[in-house]
Amino acid sequence: MKVNTNYQNISDSYLFSTIAKKVNEFAAKNPDKKIIRLGIGDVTLPLCKVVVNALKSASEEMGVKETFRGYGPEQGYDFLREKVQAYYKSHNVSLDIDEIFISDGAKSDLGNILDLFAVDNTVLVPDPVYPVYVDTNTMAGRKIVYIDANASNNFLPLPDESMKVDIIYLCSPNNPTGAVYNKEQLKKWVDYANKNKAVILFDAAYECFITDENLPRSIYEIEGAKTCAIEFCSLSKMAGFTGTRCGYTVVPKALENGLLNKMWLRRQTTKFNGVPYIVQKGAEAVFTSEGQTEIQENLNYYKENAKIISQTLEKHNIWHIGGKHSPYIWLKCPNNMSSWEFFDYLLSNVQIVGTPGSGFGKNGEGYFRLTSFGSRENTIEAMKRLDDFLK
Ligand code: MLT
Repeated sequence: MKVNTNYQNISDSYLFSTIAKKVNEFAAKNPDKKIIRLGIGDVTLPLCKVVVNALKSASEEMGVKETFRGYGPEQGYDFLREKVQAYYKSHNVSLDIDEIFISDGAKSDLGNILDLFAVDNTVLVPDPVYPVYVDTNTMAGRKIVYIDANASNNFLPLPDESMKVDIIYLCSPNNPTGAVYNKEQLKKWVDYANKNKAVILFDAAYECFITDENLPRSIYEIEGAKTCAIEFCSLSKMAGFTGTRCGYTVVPKALENGLLNKMWLRRQTTKFNGVPYIVQKGAEAVFTSEGQTEIQENLNYYKENAKIISQTLEKHNIWHIGGKHSPYIWLKCPNNMSSWEFFDYLLSNVQIVGTPGSGFGKNGEGYFRLTSFGSRENTIEAMKRLDDFLK
């Protein structure tokens, strides 16, 4: 037996596991202190009523002989794929139903999709970015090159014709910075990918936070994207499914003349048994008009939290972006502190947990991410603590 030695090239622990460990150690030593967690982007509002009702009635169906279901289609039930198709249509994107694959979330598919690509492809990853892109490719032994996202390009890097890459990761609205590409900028990426026969893996997990109609929620709003892009989406942040697990991935048939769509179907039918029927019924309810109204209320709640965070940072002249079309606020650590210094500073002085920017890449050093996914009470209290401490 030989182990996959590529694992020696990734850090021992996943970023959010490292943070959780540090926080738990602090909590054990300081049992009297109330810690406010604005670190990992995990939602706090419960599932909406229409979803809960759908989950309940689907569970009932599973307990009755006539309506019980065993294995479902690995790529998802049509009732949910049709809803996703209609959701895209509402953003002027037409998809065939067999281009939509229901998954248990964007994170799994962003890693699993790599099964379709040879190991000797070169991968382009913006820095800073969601650590899963780098870690999954490192595990597979692929060569990774980075493109700098920094204050000088508003954390929205653009392609440069001298780059020679095959697989490109883009995340917009971005995790961790909250920056959002506009259509002209995305078009540059699409043109680059088509011209260079590269594929874009577009992470749209935060599209539901976009409120400006002119900003693209899907890469397929850009002409030419169907011949070069795969899109990943999730109900985690959209509808509070972080613990329920459901998402969808779009693999257009125009990509490589249908080859990637066919390969993904083959991969999924072999390695995946599909998302549970009960969960897919819950997900279906998200896309009803009642579901959309309810989730919008939750999204507005998180946006209001982002405003509260932003106002406090502004008051103390702390440079920051994000929060407007994203649940993440990306800030410059005050007094030139490093990301982990600021993490320790906040945890020990005001018991606020955030995410060190350096965990997302070298360009994240000196930056810090806060999420708006906390409860309103905790967000207000965290900002009051910060305000009092920085006075
Ligand atoms: C984050 O905090 O970056 C997200 O929760 C990660 C994820 O969605 O997996």
